[in-house]
Amino acid sequence: MLVPFLFASPLQQFLELFGLPHWSLIEFHEASTHFPIGLLLAAVAFDFGALVTRKKMWHDVAFWMQMLGTFALLVTLASGYFGNTYHGANDEGQKATWHQNFAFVTTGLFLCLAVWRVARQRKIGRVETGIYALVTLSAVAVISITGWMGSQIGG
Ligand code: HEM
Repeated sequence: MLVPFLFASPLQQFLELFGLPHWSLIEFHEASTHFPIGLLLAAVAFDFGALVTRKKMWHDVAFWMQMLGTFALLVTLASGYFGNTYHGANDEGQKATWHQNFAFVTTGLFLCLAVWRVARQRKIGRVETGIYALVTLSAVAVISITGWMGSQIGG
């Protein structure tokens, strides 16, 4: 049988070389952190798009990007919190604690922004959309600082 032979041979070689895929929670954390940043930046872009085009569709997309981004942020927060392997008074442990504290503040900011958005989505005007987008953009800058701190933990 030609087809299974062609398929089995590279697969066998792959498994011999790389082994079975294995992912720890902190590796998931490092990968998942890109989603909230991307989604929340996209929310800002769509809100600015809504200001320019005056079309409701842009506004609705921004709303859902904001909600998905906030959800992704909660997933990243939880995976970092439960996956953290750096504890104690050494340099790595202290950096992880700083990163964690920034992460909780950042997530708190985005939860407040989500509540604001849900409460105001139907009535939000142009000025409020502009202010909202600028506040979200500033909060994304705080996530970037949080993420940079995370990247410095392991040295
Ligand atoms: C707002 C939520 C969070 C964001 C956006 C975030 C972001 C990041 C980023 C960008 C990295 C670097 C990834 C890389 O180098 O490839 C990182 C690493 C890390 N984060 Fe977070 N993080 C968050 C929450 C947390 C929390 C609550 C903890 C708990 C202490 C944590 C623990 C860690 C650890 C231990 C690493 C380093 C892993 C290593 O180098 O081995 N994170 N994080």
